Amino acid sequence: MPSRNPAAKTKSAPARKHAAPPSAKRTARAPIRKLTWPPGTLVWPAPVALVSCQVPGETPNFLAVAWCGTANSDPPMLTVAIRPSRLSHEIIERTREFVVNLPSAAIAWATDYAGVVSGRKVDKFAATGLTPLPGATVSCPGIAECPINLECRAERLIPLGTHTLILGTIAAVRVTADLVDAKGRLRIEDSGILAYAHGFYFTLGKRVGSHGWSVRKKK
Ligand SMILES: Cc1cc2nc3c(=O)[nH]c(=O)nc-3n(C[C@H](O)[C@H](O)[C@H](O)COP(=O)(O)O)c2cc1C
Repeated sequence: MPSRNPAAKTKSAPARKHAAPPSAKRTARAPIRKLTWPPGTLVWPAPVALVSCQVPGETPNFLAVAWCGTANSDPPMLTVAIRPSRLSHEIIERTREFVVNLPSAAIAWATDYAGVVSGRKVDKFAATGLTPLPGATVSCPGIAECPINLECRAERLIPLGTHTLILGTIAAVRVTADLVDAKGRLRIEDSGILAYAHGFYFTLGKRVGSHGWSVRKKK
């Protein structure tokens, strides 16, 4: 008599075609010992961005921002979290425009400088020698030396406590032309782009895989 249980007709899951690489296999039986710390924001690595902004007619400014993330694909949106005390916060609140510039190791010094000195005291473009890049879609400049510049319009400013979460729509992407190959691919591996983790700046290091490689069939 056929089974009345629909689950009984379900085919069993196909056998795994791709064995986990040796590095992912469990080798030790001993549990991994963990410490429980108080809550904190240890999302590492983070990008470190230079967020530039300007009130038209006034000195342009930029600050270092590690709390920066992708928020949506279509329309392309990102977030930056900025303390209300920053000059840049005041500027973005007024203009509703900013540029997220991703710096390379070549300008790591200037990146840190932008994160410890306020535009209330110095003209950071003058002090670092970085070049303002006229915006294609926004009235504030980007930073020419940064391999990637994302021009943004601030859609929402959400006060969260210590920081304001600024949700921006990306209006234009600028990339350094020398980093784009003949096929139009951005050679990110040659960009020298920086990451930030637990108080330190890093470059990206060795590539260990690519999107989907864990399930791709070997030829
Ligand atoms: C690596 C690094 C990351 C930082 N990330 C943030 C951040 O995500 N949000 C923020 O409000 N400040 C951040 N800061 C601090 C500001 O960049 C810093 O206070 C800056 O001087 C503010 O400049 P401004 O007053 O000209 O806007 C960071 C600093 C450093 C060095």
